[in-house]
Amino acid sequence: MTDATPIVSLGEGNTPLVFSPRLSEVVGHDCEVFLKCEGQNPTGSFKDRGMTVAVSRAVEDGATLLLCASTGNTSASAAAYAARAGIRCGVVLPAGKIARGKLLQAVVYGATIVAIEGNFDDALRLVRKLGERSDVAVVNSINPDRIAGQTTAAFEIVDSLGDAPAVHLLPLGNAGNITAYWSGYRAFHERGKSTQLPAMIGVQAAGAAPVFHDKVVAKPETVASAIRIGNPASWDGAKRAVRESQGAVDIVTDEEILEAQRWLASHEGIFVEPASAAPVAGLFKSCDAKRKPTYPSSKIAAGSRIVCTVTGHGLKDPDIAGMDMEQKIVPPNESDVLRALGL
Ligand code: F0G
Repeated sequence: MTDATPIVSLGEGNTPLVFSPRLSEVVGHDCEVFLKCEGQNPTGSFKDRGMTVAVSRAVEDGATLLLCASTGNTSASAAAYAARAGIRCGVVLPAGKIARGKLLQAVVYGATIVAIEGNFDDALRLVRKLGERSDVAVVNSINPDRIAGQTTAAFEIVDSLGDAPAVHLLPLGNAGNITAYWSGYRAFHERGKSTQLPAMIGVQAAGAAPVFHDKVVAKPETVASAIRIGNPASWDGAKRAVRESQGAVDIVTDEEILEAQRWLASHEGIFVEPASAAPVAGLFKSCDAKRKPTYPSSKIAAGSRIVCTVTGHGLKDPDIAGMDMEQKIVPPNESDVLRALGL
């Protein structure tokens, strides 16, 4: 970036790092758990941190079309920043696999949507090919400007806590975010802003866990559509983060994801999308030795600070499996309403 780079911003970043008393209780041993609430970004996910950098640079380079493959959030973010910049945006999406709120965002921000009969990995392969054109800027996390922007979340955490946490959990999909966090934590450590580096724990859905199994998954399946990815682009970055930080990759089932999502909303007042509940489900798993977690909480020293990144807002995915929204309708009088309230 230079002084001449036209900054395309919607006020992203500086999201709240919220202390979670009830998750801290679950972990015990005087540990403190914090949630980095990335759903507070302008388009409701962490993608905006990288998008502001990638789009500013793309505009400076004269791109006329932003292009991305997406499981939903990248397309919502790219579409918004393209609108802000006054350039076109094309998004290539797996047909029928995008959460309704995210698709709505891409539509309303004015992107051109191409739904393919294939999955995210197929979409990304196509986008890489189309990105060879000089008038097209690919804004997936294969674009290093995206990763650079996303490092800011780690900076903010170190600034808020006064040091890096001992452990950092986050969902693992295309693996850009774990790569970015690790790069951010290392950069601040090298500058003496933190005394330690966290163990990085990537949490994948059991049906879409290529990094966990160290094997491409041809047909990834999970209710957490954001991380329904079988061949992550930043696989090496994820492996490096986990290796160097002495962290781990673990898996959680769809049931565990949905349970963690509901738990977080009803116990802490934080509503996140299913993919974002994966690290919370992963933390529950860590605390239950019977389930053979790859990173048991016994490895975490008493009094440690633990951060979970919750990556996207719950309202993005209103059709979550198994949520019962049936309402009991009562006559409009005090006694019926009182009874319905259980008073
Ligand atoms: N959480 C959410 C809400 C996401 O949208 C994504 C990725 C991830 C976690 C995983 O992050 O890919 O950096 O490992 N969504 C991308 C998309 C793939 O197209 O929106 P990652």
